[in-house]
Amino acid sequence: MTATITLSTGQQMPAVGLGTWKSAPGQVKQAVLAALDCDYRHIDCAAAYSNEREVGEALSERLGEGKPLRREDIFVTSKLWNTKHHPDDVEEACKKSLSDLRLSYLDLYLMHWPMAFERGDELMPRRPDGTVRYDNTHYRDTWAAMEKLVDQGLVKAIGLSNFNARQIDDILSIAKHKPVVNQVECHPYLVQTQLVSHCWGRGLAVTAYSPLGSPDRPWVTPGEAHLLDDPRVVGLAKCYNKTPAQVIIRWHIQRGVICIPKSVTPSRIKQNIEVFDFKLTEEDMRVIETFNRNERLIIPTIMSGL
Ligand code: A2P
Repeated sequence: MTATITLSTGQQMPAVGLGTWKSAPGQVKQAVLAALDCDYRHIDCAAAYSNEREVGEALSERLGEGKPLRREDIFVTSKLWNTKHHPDDVEEACKKSLSDLRLSYLDLYLMHWPMAFERGDELMPRRPDGTVRYDNTHYRDTWAAMEKLVDQGLVKAIGLSNFNARQIDDILSIAKHKPVVNQVECHPYLVQTQLVSHCWGRGLAVTAYSPLGSPDRPWVTPGEAHLLDDPRVVGLAKCYNKTPAQVIIRWHIQRGVICIPKSVTPSRIKQNIEVFDFKLTEEDMRVIETFNRNERLIIPTIMSGL
């Protein structure tokens, strides 16, 4: 049984979920099945990952009448992509994710990024010179459209992703349904102390994406040192007789941050949830925080080819 974080709606969000960004079609179905079979109860998805149909195949094999799990046993998050921010596009985008995931509701629907891209079905609309075509839709208008999804019962809660403190407060100033979560990049090289306390101070839980430092991010440079190989992390892992990934995941959840490690490898998927049988000392928690170097690995300008 995994620990949960109570959201401002009263929902229980499992502290560890399976991340699906970068999980290729052809791999993600068996990853989700492996996760559900070793007690993951939280799957993090997004339309932009272009794999929700396959995630849906896995969910439909395990959820429902005569199957091991009921819908209410699991917590599923999806995200509204940047090309769907226009208020007229939001409901359709949400329904597309629901249909791909083969669900009648989402537990949580996040605005993936604060900025809007030009409307349409191209994931990254670009000019011939490679720069992204943005759209003028303001995230406040997108938020108002997302609130209607809660009223319609399509989603249990809505939230934000990649929002900074000012943008969070901007949303809170107009929100009828408050954001329950901000999902941001967070790991020992980017501990996000100020943003995390800003969120908590305003009733938002924080989910860490790329919690292991995303060694498989598409733009990684060959030979680059990875967090999971950091000798200090490896040393701590030896002390606890755990793996580096387990120590990092434990650090996240012990500080109260939800995390969504991605893996398509069954043994790692299993390992990443086996983090509830040990505790880091307060000193080691603080030591890991000192690894911070404010290093953002997921930079939108890289993502968008600017
Ligand atoms: P793979 O999917 O091939 O198993 P993040 O969640 O920070 O984005 O990191 C995901 C990356 O970390 C993937 O390359 C994934 O590999 C790898 N990974 C996930 N869990 C572990 C683990 N327990 N040990 C080593 N690498 C892991």
